[in-house]
Amino acid sequence: MSGKKNYFVHESAYVDEPCEIGKGTKIWHFSHIMKGARIGENCIFGQNVNVAGGVVIGTNVKVQNNVSIYTGTTIEDDVFLGPSCVLTNVTNPRSQIVRHNLYEKTTFRRGATVGANATVVCGIEVGRYSFVAAGAVVTKDVPDYALMTGVPAKRAGWISRHGIPLPQADADGIMVCPESGYRYREVEPGVVRCLDLDEEAPLPPDKAIGRVSYDDLKKK
Ligand SMILES: CC(C)(COP(=O)(O)OP(=O)(O)OC[C@H]1O[C@@H](n2cnc3c(N)ncnc32)[C@H](O)[C@@H]1OP(=O)(O)O)[C@@H](O)C(=O)NCCC(=O)NCCS
Repeated sequence: MSGKKNYFVHESAYVDEPCEIGKGTKIWHFSHIMKGARIGENCIFGQNVNVAGGVVIGTNVKVQNNVSIYTGTTIEDDVFLGPSCVLTNVTNPRSQIVRHNLYEKTTFRRGATVGANATVVCGIEVGRYSFVAAGAVVTKDVPDYALMTGVPAKRAGWISRHGIPLPQADADGIMVCPESGYRYREVEPGVVRCLDLDEEAPLPPDKAIGRVSYDDLKKK
């Protein structure tokens, strides 16, 4: 293990060395971090999470119970993986054929969310602040800020960095997040950007605390 142990591992969890685990990260019951995994600071791994060797995970990543993160996966900062979501690393697995050196790459860009029980087929990029709805099956690249639902997952609309579906654009093409007030625009077909905060910038602390329920925000 590199550096001092300034992270938390529950006594029922296994951490195989060598691997990297950042300061403040917490690894809860029955989870297993495998040799060669690289995990950033302030992440949370719930119960029964497996992180395979070669996986790279950024900071402030939250992984709910019963998730396996396979070799070939890269997870950027602030990603949320919902309970029992399924990631993959071989498109066409066959028990008789060894494909250990052919694991496909899947990248979760900054701030993306994967809902409960969703499946992400490998070899794709899940865009920044995109949102995969519960139970969806994602088979293709997901654009930034896309809300993806269904099987196979299709874009149902755009969603804000705060996880609120964006309303219809106004006459100037602006979509305002009812929670943050941030303005978004489709700057070219299929490409949404936030006009008030760069995608790579951290949220200001006052915008990082939820104060209004989702149902109340939907009524706005
Ligand atoms: C995608 C999501 C955010 C939408 O929530 P919402 O805005 O309250 O959705 P609504 O109930 O208003 O539904 C809007 C439409 O989307 C559909 N829909 C909602 N969630 C859906 C889902 N997961 N898959 C497919 N369709 C869905 C609804 O059926 C409805 O369709 P309709 O207009 O044809 O009737 C939510 O359903 C979801 O999946 N959240 C993830 C929850 C989760 O996994 N949390 C993990 C941490 S515990």
